[in-house]
Amino acid sequence: MKKTFTTSYGDTIHFDTDDIEVYARRDNLFYNGGPKRPPLFDESSASTLGGISYAHYQTRYARAYSLVKMLKDTNLYGAYDNLLDIGCGQGIQPAILRGIGVARYATGVDIRHSEQYPPRAIKKLHRKLRTVGRLLDGLKARYRAVPQEKRNAFQNTIVNNVTTLRSFYINEYGSDPGSDIYKHPMTATPELDEHLVQSVFDLDESRKFDLITSFNAMGYFDLDSILSKVGNLLGDNGAFYMVAANWWRAFNPTWMAGHFPFAAQRLSTPDFARYAREHFPDDADVMIRLHEEFEPDRPTLHDYLEKGLAHGLVPIKFDYCNLPSDEYSFGGLTPLGILKRHAGELDEIVAQVQRFKSNFRLVDLTNHYHSILFVRTGSTNTAAGFEQAAGAEEYREGLIYKSMKGVWKKFF
Ligand SMILES: C[S@@+](CC[C@H](N)C(=O)[O-])C[C@H]1O[C@@H](n2cnc3c(N)ncnc32)[C@H](O)[C@@H]1O
Repeated sequence: MKKTFTTSYGDTIHFDTDDIEVYARRDNLFYNGGPKRPPLFDESSASTLGGISYAHYQTRYARAYSLVKMLKDTNLYGAYDNLLDIGCGQGIQPAILRGIGVARYATGVDIRHSEQYPPRAIKKLHRKLRTVGRLLDGLKARYRAVPQEKRNAFQNTIVNNVTTLRSFYINEYGSDPGSDIYKHPMTATPELDEHLVQSVFDLDESRKFDLITSFNAMGYFDLDSILSKVGNLLGDNGAFYMVAANWWRAFNPTWMAGHFPFAAQRLSTPDFARYAREHFPDDADVMIRLHEEFEPDRPTLHDYLEKGLAHGLVPIKFDYCNLPSDEYSFGGLTPLGILKRHAGELDEIVAQVQRFKSNFRLVDLTNHYHSILFVRTGSTNTAAGFEQAAGAEEYREGLIYKSMKGVWKKFF
């Protein structure tokens, strides 16, 4: 059924209620009549650890490798003396980084205690990943080259159903890590040297680190406070790598969908509340709470880059982490799918968001993750320096748009 929603800024969004299926493929997404997601605020999913599966290890190694790739891309790859991982959870990424020689000494800090994975299990899985994973990747490439009508069932399964390390990486980060991803044997014990159960904000700043990482934890912090803390904990020329889910992405971390693309993102919180009450009366209370409470800061790529600069952290590389397919198996349409369906509307969507978030840009709708490598320069006046050197306009627009052009060219 055709309907409209008019925002408090006077914008009218036209939609078809049947389209909900398009934006809510995941079976636990909130939408009228669909199954409900288990409570997101349930803290009882505390962190004791049974075992670690091959598939799980594959995802964690891919995440750790996303840093390795960035260090290689920027010629900063090497062995760091002192790694700090912020919000380390079970500490697997820093343990891997120690194991493959990126860090000689690894410290994890987390406000909650979690069991660490047994180093022997990690080592074993790592060996398996390097042999079995490489083999499967080779097979996948070979069978993909066979025309589909000529593939047998086994070949089809490998091509379509087997997730290899490389195919997982490509799906998650939108770029191909190449066979280099298999080239890192575990030469040291994959474990944390220190596992600190405390808030990162209580760490003594007289102790300096030359590499700081944060895997999927930035959303827990006030951005200015955490970047200032990172700046104070990093030694000069130290590197900071962060990867965080982009709240503004097509199926964002609240896992909420509406009848039109970016429903949760393009409506201000009061407008979203009104839309939810009108169209999802049964779920509205939970939807509104999710919208209000889940990552209230919602940093854009600009926020990360500009605030980093303001704290003396120069972003030397960032990746867009665009998903390469039109659909994500359990998420619904990806930015690319939305682009193909709604190409003519994207400017309008961006303009709608800009009414309540002025530094919003197209890239913020398309980016799946924010993955950024900063280097600490020791100067606290870096942002002003950049603006002066580049010209304010050029700096603000150019930094993002120039690299965006390259990304979009790939598709159109
Ligand atoms: C989504 S988890 C990510 C865990 C881990 N990095 C991973 O990749 O599995 C975010 C972590 O940040 C931690 N955290 C939240 N506030 C924190 C703080 N003030 N200091 C340290 N850790 C914090 C949480 O306890 C949680 O374990």
